[in-house]
Amino acid sequence: MTRTWTPHSWREKPVKHIPDDYPDPRALARVEEELSRLPPLVFASETRKLTAALGQVAEGKAFLLQGGDCAESFKEFTADNIRDTFRLILQIAVVLTFAGGRPVVKVGRIAGQFAKPRSSPVETIGGITLPAYRGDIINGMEFNAADRTPDPKRLLKAYHQSSATLNLLRAFAQGGYSDLCNIHRWTLDFIAGSPQGERYRRLADQIFESLCFMRALTGHSEPQSSVSSVDLFTSHEALLLNVEEAMTRVDSASGDWYDTSAHMLWIGERTNQLDGGHVEFMRGIQNPIGLKCGPRMDPDTLLRLIDVLNPKAIPGRLTLIGRFGADKTAECLPRLMAATRRDGRPVVWSSDPMHGNTLQASNGYKTRLFDRILSEVKTFTQVAASEGVHPGGLHLEMTGQNVTECLGGAQAVTEDDLSSRYHTHCDPRLNADQALQLAFLVAEKLHELRAPQVRAA
Ligand code: PEP
Ligand code: CO
Repeated sequence: MTRTWTPHSWREKPVKHIPDDYPDPRALARVEEELSRLPPLVFASETRKLTAALGQVAEGKAFLLQGGDCAESFKEFTADNIRDTFRLILQIAVVLTFAGGRPVVKVGRIAGQFAKPRSSPVETIGGITLPAYRGDIINGMEFNAADRTPDPKRLLKAYHQSSATLNLLRAFAQGGYSDLCNIHRWTLDFIAGSPQGERYRRLADQIFESLCFMRALTGHSEPQSSVSSVDLFTSHEALLLNVEEAMTRVDSASGDWYDTSAHMLWIGERTNQLDGGHVEFMRGIQNPIGLKCGPRMDPDTLLRLIDVLNPKAIPGRLTLIGRFGADKTAECLPRLMAATRRDGRPVVWSSDPMHGNTLQASNGYKTRLFDRILSEVKTFTQVAASEGVHPGGLHLEMTGQNVTECLGGAQAVTEDDLSSRYHTHCDPRLNADQALQLAFLVAEKLHELRAPQVRAA
């Protein structure tokens, strides 16, 4: 029999990647208590809307775009950065919608994506060993003992930053900025003259003309709400279960538990153990959830995880995010897709082409090759086509800033360029030009999928 779930039942299970070295555990407990009294960041009704939208993705009628920073930081927190990530999401979504002929569900890795699992708990530089940096919500990035010591006050700072970020995102999403009539204004300055910028401008011209045509045809000068505003949902990895527990509340309308820290939460690849605390916590909240699947995942374990995480087979409840690495996708993905297809319960299959493709450049920078990212996405869509599964989504680490963190792409970022604009607080992100280039590739694949339908119509 399934054991009773409570927001704190995860505490009886083994957990990984949650810090246990706060110097003053009572100060941590006080902060957790304070968080539990702070207002929710998102509302259950919005969260249900996202589940329904993802349900459409699971049925093959829509597409999921999830993207943003690897790790948000206190230092990079500015209105311009938020706006630029937001408009990059809009741009990619437009490219995918136009090509795929299906709505794109937009989910940011934003407004709460702070905590990071690390491959090693410590870092050694010049013979000195300190705790590893674990994200601004836990400790600081500077290599000194004071900064690297976990500080519970950071949990509150992250909450308030998430709240301010969401406030701005809500204004951008509903306040006219997202009106499709502004489609030309979304172009980020530094890509305006690049081939991707040019390609985007031609697409924007086409969409703008279609809008004018529709308005002339219908006689409505006022735009429809689906054109004048967007829904942008938030998401992050549910790593710090003490924080997620504090933000988990009963929804008065349904009587169900919702984690109000974000619309969607996901379980990371390092914390997806069936008997672990992260799976235990996530099974009880009603938010849509993601589950990262890496090369170690086998079909039997995946089906058992689905039993636990989506026992009622609710469409949109569970998104499987494959992140295998370009070389391993063809080997690992088919058996997992075949298993979920035979099983029949609805899942969204999404591709994270970032986390299996991280490497160290010869000058020490952590980076990713654009071509490998592209190759993983291509293989993902090919495997999905041969397994009869909808290639439902894309999960990207990207930024609207003109960074040089991933190698290659049309503007050919080289190893020597990495040091010039390397700003990430954790993993290397695609810059806007690289992200749009990837979007156009995925758009071509979606268009191929759509072609038989269009011909049949
Ligand atoms: C991430 O999404 O930032 C992450 C750490 O991914 P994964 O769990 O897939 O390694
Ligand atoms: Co990452």
